[in-house]
Amino acid sequence: MKKIALCGFMGCGKSTIARLLKSKYSLEYVDTDEYVEKQADMKISDIFKNFGEECFRDKEYDAISTLSSENIPVLSLGGGAVMKERNVKKLKENGYTIVFLNTSLETIKERVKNDPSRPLFDNNVNELYKKRMPIYSSVCDINIDCDSKSADEVADEIIKMV
Ligand code: S3P
Repeated sequence: MKKIALCGFMGCGKSTIARLLKSKYSLEYVDTDEYVEKQADMKISDIFKNFGEECFRDKEYDAISTLSSENIPVLSLGGGAVMKERNVKKLKENGYTIVFLNTSLETIKERVKNDPSRPLFDNNVNELYKKRMPIYSSVCDINIDCDSKSADEVADEIIKMV
């Protein structure tokens, strides 16, 4: 089976699906945001606040470079990771199938409301969503429509397709 990198907008369910791939299919995963937080010993919201987004993007690239070369079966990426060509290149070079969890903004807003941990989920979220959706679609190898499916169904579909 190919290695899987889960991508998609904030709140599309990447972490949930990664956990399910582990519990149902025994596939180990690493969440790149959690890895960055551990390495920096700081919350992502604080990295943004104290050092700015570019600093976070550099740390995210370091995380993806390291983790993707370690043969980890599943990587759960941050929502902006595949916006950077260098990250997509690393993932593909290291044999990852990029899976896009395609979820409507309505569903996402319902899930993410009241969560202060996402610095980019602000008043400009509609614009950001519109700008990013075509990019997720163009870089991914597999595009999964998640709106009408349970998390279990999404995990099963991924396994069937990779
Ligand atoms: C970001 C998404 C976040 C995190 C950071 C930036 C983005 O991850 O990497 O706040 O640019 O969309 P989630 O997609 O897990 O929320």
